[in-house]
Amino acid sequence: MASQDSNEIILDTRAFLVSETDEKGIINFANDEFCKYAGYTIDELIGKPHNIVRHPDMPRAAFKALWDTIKSGNKWRGFVKNRAKDGRYYWVFATVYPFVSCEGSKGYISCRRVVSDMEKKKYEKLYKEMRAGER
Ligand SMILES: Cc1cc2nc3c(=O)[nH]c(=O)nc-3n(C[C@H](O)[C@H](O)[C@H](O)COP(=O)(O)O)c2cc1C
Repeated sequence: MASQDSNEIILDTRAFLVSETDEKGIINFANDEFCKYAGYTIDELIGKPHNIVRHPDMPRAAFKALWDTIKSGNKWRGFVKNRAKDGRYYWVFATVYPFVSCEGSKGYISCRRVVSDMEKKKYEKLYKEMRAGER
C-alpha cells in the first residue's frame, strides 16, 4: 500500500499547498506548506522553474494537458506525483488556473490537496502505462 512506502511523504488531511508562477512557469510564490512538503526553503524556490519538483514517474502528456488548458484560459485539475528535495515523493490533487495581478501581469496559481490511497493507486498505474507509451 502506498502509505507503507517509506519513500512517500503523506500529506496531512487538511494540507493546502499553494504556488504561483509567471507565464513561463517560473515560481514567484509558494506558501509554507508547499515549502515544507517539497523540502525547499522559499528562497530556493523563488525564480526556479516549477519542474524543480517534477517526479520522473509523471508522464509528459499530463503536463502538456496542464499547459494547453491553462494557456487557453481554463482551469486544469489533476493528480500529480511530486518529488521532494530529498528524493522522496508526495501525491497531490492540483487545481491550476490563470490569473491577472492588480498590476496587470499574468500568471498561474496551483492549489493542492491530499489524495486518497485508492486514487494514488489508480494514477500510479495509469501514469505508468502512459509513460510506457511515451517511450
Ligand atoms: C502554477 C503551476 C504549478 C505547477 N506545479 C507543478 C508541480 O507541482 N509539479 C510538477 O511537476 N509540475 C508542475 N507544473 C508544471 C511545470 O511547469 C512543468 O511543465 C512540469 O514539471 C514538466 O516539466 P518539463 O516541462 O521540464 O518536462 C506547474 C505549472 C504551473 C504553471
